Amino acid sequence: MTDAHDPADHADPAEAVDRAAAADRAAGAAADGPPALRFPFDATALSAEPLRTERLVLRPIEASDAADVYEYQRLPEVIRYLPWPERDRASGFEHTAKRAAGRILAADEDFVFLAATLPGEPSTDDPARDRVIGDFMVRVSSVQHARLELGWVLHPDFQGRGYASEAAGAVLDFVFESLNPHRVEAFLDARNAASAALCERLGMCREATLLEEEYNDGEWQDTAVYGVLRREWAAARGT
Ligand SMILES: CC(C)(COP(=O)(O)OP(=O)(O)OC[C@H]1O[C@@H](n2cnc3c(N)ncnc32)[C@H](O)[C@@H]1OP(=O)(O)O)[C@@H](O)C(=O)NCCC(=O)NCCS
Repeated sequence: MTDAHDPADHADPAEAVDRAAAADRAAGAAADGPPALRFPFDATALSAEPLRTERLVLRPIEASDAADVYEYQRLPEVIRYLPWPERDRASGFEHTAKRAAGRILAADEDFVFLAATLPGEPSTDDPARDRVIGDFMVRVSSVQHARLELGWVLHPDFQGRGYASEAAGAVLDFVFESLNPHRVEAFLDARNAASAALCERLGMCREATLLEEEYNDGEWQDTAVYGVLRREWAAARGT
C-alpha cells in the first residue's frame, strides 16, 4: 500500500530529469579535472608555421597588414556590431600595430590576433603578398578558470562563402588542442545574426542573453553569450 504522504508519489517527472541532467553535468565537469591552460604560449611560432585550412592561411597579424585591415575596418557595416569607433587611416594603422604587438598568452586579457590570408588574392598595397581578408582573436578571459574568448571580422567581399567558419573552426581546434582551455566563449551584440550563426556552426551554444548590458548607438543593447566546453568540442570531433 502506498503512503499518501510519501513525497515520491508527488515527484514531478520533469524535476527528476533536471536532477539527472545536473548530476551528469557535475560528473562530466569533475572528469574534466581542474584548470590547466598550457601557458605561457608564444604565438610567434605561428608566424613560421601558420595554421592552414583548405583555403586559408592563419598567422599572427603584423603591423604591415594595416592596409588590408583598413579595407574592412573602415566600413560601417563591419563595425556595426563591433565596439570599434570609426577610424581614419592613421588611427586604423595604429590600431593594427597595437593588435600586432600581442604575441604572448600568459595572463588575463592577453590577446593574439590571427590574420586570415587568402593565397592567390593579392594584398591591396603589395601585390606580392597574399591579402588579409579578416582576423580572428584569441583572448584570455581567465587563466584561473581556463577560459578563452574568440572573436572575428571578415571583409564583406569575402563573407557568405564559409571562410569565417573555416578559419574560426581551425582556431577553435587549435586552442583546444594546444592551449587546453576548459571553455571557449564569445560575446556578441545580440542583434548580430551573422555572428550568432557562425557560433552555432562552430558548435557553440547560446547560454545567456545579458539584457541591456551595453549602451551603443544611442540605445541599450543586449549581449549574447555563446560557449563550448572542452568535452562538448571533443564529443563533436569524435575524439
Ligand atoms: C560574423 C562574420 C565573420 C560571419 O561571416 P560569414 O561569411 O557570414 O560566415 P561563414 O564563413 O560562416 O559563412 C556562412 C555563409 O556562407 C555560406 N557558404 C558558402 N560556402 C560555404 C562553405 N563552403 N562553407 C560554409 N558556408 C558556406 C553559408 O551558406 C552562409 O551563408 P548565409 O549567411 O547566407 O547563411 C561576418 O558577418 C563579419 O565579419 N561581420 C562583421 C564583424 C562582426 O560583426 N564580427 C563579430 C563580432 S562578435
